[in-house]
Amino acid sequence: MSENKVVADLSETEARAELARLAGLLAQANTAYHTEDAPVISDAEYDALKRRNAEIEARFPELKREDSPTEQVGAAPAEGFGKITHAVRMMSLANAFDDEDVAEFDASVRKYLGAPGEIAYTAEPKIDGLSLSLRYENGVLISAATRGDGEVGENVTANARTINDIPHEITGAPEVLEVRGEVYMSHADFAALNARQEERGGKTFANPRNAAAGSLRQLDPEITRSRPLKFFAYAWGEISEPLADTQLGAIKRLADLGFTTNPLTERHTEIAEIIAHYHRIEEQRARLGYDIDGVVYKVDNLELQRRLGFRSTTPRWAIAHKFPAELAWTQLEAIDIQVGRTGALSPVARLTPVTVGGVVVSNATLHNEDYITGLDSKGETIRDGKDIRVGDWVQVYRAGDVIPKVADVDLARRKSDSVPYTFPTTCPECGSAAIREEGDAVRRCTGGLICPAQAVEKLKHFVSRGAFDIEGLGAKQVEQFYKDGWVKEPADIFELKEKYGPGNMAQLKNREGWGEKSANKLFDAIDERRAIPLAKLIFGLGIRHVGDTSAGLLATHYGTWEAFEAAMKTAEIGIGAAWEDLLSIDGVGDVMAASVVTTFHQEAERASIDRLVAQLSPLEAEKPKSDSPVSGKTVVFTGTLEKMTRAEAKARAESLGAKVSGSVSAKTDLVVAGPGAGSKEKKARDLGIELLDEDGWLELIGDA
Ligand code: IVH
Repeated sequence: MSENKVVADLSETEARAELARLAGLLAQANTAYHTEDAPVISDAEYDALKRRNAEIEARFPELKREDSPTEQVGAAPAEGFGKITHAVRMMSLANAFDDEDVAEFDASVRKYLGAPGEIAYTAEPKIDGLSLSLRYENGVLISAATRGDGEVGENVTANARTINDIPHEITGAPEVLEVRGEVYMSHADFAALNARQEERGGKTFANPRNAAAGSLRQLDPEITRSRPLKFFAYAWGEISEPLADTQLGAIKRLADLGFTTNPLTERHTEIAEIIAHYHRIEEQRARLGYDIDGVVYKVDNLELQRRLGFRSTTPRWAIAHKFPAELAWTQLEAIDIQVGRTGALSPVARLTPVTVGGVVVSNATLHNEDYITGLDSKGETIRDGKDIRVGDWVQVYRAGDVIPKVADVDLARRKSDSVPYTFPTTCPECGSAAIREEGDAVRRCTGGLICPAQAVEKLKHFVSRGAFDIEGLGAKQVEQFYKDGWVKEPADIFELKEKYGPGNMAQLKNREGWGEKSANKLFDAIDERRAIPLAKLIFGLGIRHVGDTSAGLLATHYGTWEAFEAAMKTAEIGIGAAWEDLLSIDGVGDVMAASVVTTFHQEAERASIDRLVAQLSPLEAEKPKSDSPVSGKTVVFTGTLEKMTRAEAKARAESLGAKVSGSVSAKTDLVVAGPGAGSKEKKARDLGIELLDEDGWLELIGDA
């Protein structure tokens, strides 16, 4: 049979048949691996088939098939899903780790609302699964999306339809209703699934959450159907009319519409009572049959929820009270140093694998140099000052999906010949000096772009989801391109086509995993990204302290790349109008501002940014809420406000696109004066600035 023949002995007819057979086998293997999370052949067998296919194609180029496996880059399943932009952003939750944090949460709610009297909270289990948003129009399920980055998620509609707890049609619902909740897998179903996978020699899952995520994100909905997923509804997104006046009422309404809601949800008016309920849930945790990692408290009154509103990614009206982390003891085999995008040297503990709360842990973070010696970020003693040494027995803990940490050391088991760990003072990747600046807990490599670790991490960040997000160019590919010397900095990505593209295509085409089609697809995807939204460009630069939210704030404030760049070039840390203007952005503090300005003043960084931007046509940032009557206006609040607190007034004004300032000047557009307003009101009159009382303001913004 031709499949047993060496390539050199194959006739043309045999080669054609053999190429067809290999294409089929490899396609099957790809589906099993990527889509079913259940490989049918080993990696070595897969590679051998691929090699054989490439050899035959090399000998008979004219027989190369349309669907040749050499044209296929091992595609991640995520690429197969369409994207859905959430009508209302999907938020996450702030965390509380002890009773004190919960009391602080209650105090902050009260302070924000200004002595609101009795406040009721709901308390319900925090399900450890993945969140899903279901959109119903006229009672019909029309789409289902994962959370994604909160703004855009993956379209998993076909898969969601296979879940029993998710009704396809509902009656008596508002015209538009987005139901949000958690997809999860029960302990029993998880154990059965893993047993089945093991029997088939397939991939087993580390925990029910991974199993639920892996099962929901399947390209073939039939596979999702065969995985027993469940769904608890606990929130909503866009709705054409309110569900109820209270959180509890809304949840009850969802239950009446046919959704499964959690039976352990309770409402209490005393903090002590919600904490008592937390302990009751904690006590039942092991018997629930599904994973939970805490209890969520929500302000029950929906009008108060509306007033409290949101911070950038979390609501002010809710908090997740997490259960204490899970612990285990194991031995520290080595301490490795990883160098990050900003040059930070991070010590990583390599551990003898140990199970912590159902997950096998073999790596944990050691934070930084001081942490290893027994000091916290303020220089105060932790662990009674015990240091951590290679060979020690250490206590590992993990809470939810947070990276496991080394918490404690057992001195009684320390070997007598152990030696204290010496933190490197040079970068293990490039040999440059690694220094600690005053007040910085972190030691950083000074190599900048010459440090391969920093350069690669910067590139990975650059192509990541919140940044340039180039299809077909993930962390793995940039790493490979960097190794080959093709891409050293972001600008090089945009020169790939010119250097290695058509004409020079052979260079990319002949590489493992790349064919002409996939190469062309990559070049197109890169070209598409030249017109990049300003916020994504700023985020993609990977400036220390500038996350995607802050990048968004900077983009909205400056509007265009030219304006942003000009401002950063002229700004001087600590003085001048450009610096003041930067700090005037709500959400931009001294540290972040200094970091951005410093980046633009460093010659090498500047040159790299200039080279990049020369390849791009950054898009102008949209001004938010331009339809609001106060957007773009500078507002000053003075005197006593009676219907809202100062914090609430400020947050509301800002959410409508206004800038809130503390002092009245010629730049002020509007002064809102309550009883007892003094000099500011007078100044407003003197300058002829529009003056409103609290009711006038509420009327203006449509909250009256
Ligand atoms: S409420 C606007 N309630 O926890 C707030 N979230 O850590 C929406 N989660 O992204 C979330 N159980 O995926 C809420 N009972 C519950 C929850 C819950 C689990 C998840 C949710 C959220 C994450 C935040």
